[in-house]
Amino acid sequence: MTILGIETSCDETAAAIIEGSTRDKPVAVLSNVMASSLALHAQTGGIIPEVAARKQSEYIIPILQKTFIDAKKKPRDIEAIAVTVGPGLIGSLLIGVETARSLAFAWSKPLIPINHLFGHIYANFIQNPSLEKKIQFPALALVVSGGHTDLLLLKNHRKFTFLGETRDDAAGECFDKCARLLGYAYPGGPKIAELSKKGNASAFDFPRPMRDSNNYDFSFSGLKTAFLHKTREYFPIIRTDPSLNRGGWQQVVLEQILSEAEKQTLSDLCASLQQAIIDILLAKTFHAAKEFGVRSLLLGGGVAANNELRSQLRLSMQAAFEATELFVPQKPLCTDNAAMIAAAAFYAGKQTPWQQVTANPDLFFA
Ligand code: KG4
Ligand code: ZN
Repeated sequence: MTILGIETSCDETAAAIIEGSTRDKPVAVLSNVMASSLALHAQTGGIIPEVAARKQSEYIIPILQKTFIDAKKKPRDIEAIAVTVGPGLIGSLLIGVETARSLAFAWSKPLIPINHLFGHIYANFIQNPSLEKKIQFPALALVVSGGHTDLLLLKNHRKFTFLGETRDDAAGECFDKCARLLGYAYPGGPKIAELSKKGNASAFDFPRPMRDSNNYDFSFSGLKTAFLHKTREYFPIIRTDPSLNRGGWQQVVLEQILSEAEKQTLSDLCASLQQAIIDILLAKTFHAAKEFGVRSLLLGGGVAANNELRSQLRLSMQAAFEATELFVPQKPLCTDNAAMIAAAAFYAGKQTPWQQVTANPDLFFA
């Protein structure tokens, strides 16, 4: 089955064509194209929804054209259209949803609405040459993105139980907000990960909120506050010297004005923060893997690109659970893309008349 996927939930405009044969096998990506308005948002220190939506409408047609060219396919070759319907920014979502509805109507193709967070899970089901193992159910999915931290138990492609979510900030949001405190633009996760490489992860004893609570919910806002206090203690210059402020939202980027010893402290702070986030994620995931005796653990979402999280999860899973296999998407498929939306449609999608497909910014797991 050849599926066109469309993803426009935030600041990325993405389209992809994938091909799937049977549900036992991974799908193949024929093309996966994306444009982003990220650079514009870096100038303002965060995403302005109106700006993101305008860029979505500017990019969507050229992106679709390139997707077909790259895949060497024509509209007549497409057997279904999959589109992200939520959660996300309403203005951005509407561009993708209305485009998909129009194409489904004009080309008489089935339309499949997809929850963006399921897309992140199904990034694991895309052909990965380095993976030989098959994903088996029951599977536990940990979705860690800029807006979500969710744990789900998948009994099969159609049946799942929602186990828990963050009660405040998401794991990616914690990375982003802490990076911003240091003067780094969105997305801050990769920058914290880079600074952490030279740091000592046990230098600062940050809190691990809700790590040991008797449920599957998460909390990261207290950790973010602890990081704020520590950075102010060690680097009082943060937000205190207007002469170093280079205009706009941007504050001084600490790294550029620090001595070697101070740079080490900065790396230690970042490594300790990253470790606290990883410890919380690992503890909850372990608890659920044990309780439900899962065969596979599926990591998904932008934070799944974090090397430390990937390797610590792999090492500790191997040590604790012989029968559970860890799956992580290929790095470029961790962050938002349309191939994962088309993949979710192939395995778990439900065709829906185009008249009933609407954008829902607050879409929950359903
Ligand atoms: O899934 P995604 O592309 O967008 C949302 O659906 O939110 O995830 C973006 C998030 C951002 O918070 C970003 O900082 C985080 O993923 N991220 C990382 C890394 N790469 C991206 N966080 C930690 N380490 C990384 N290497
Ligand atoms: Zn996402």
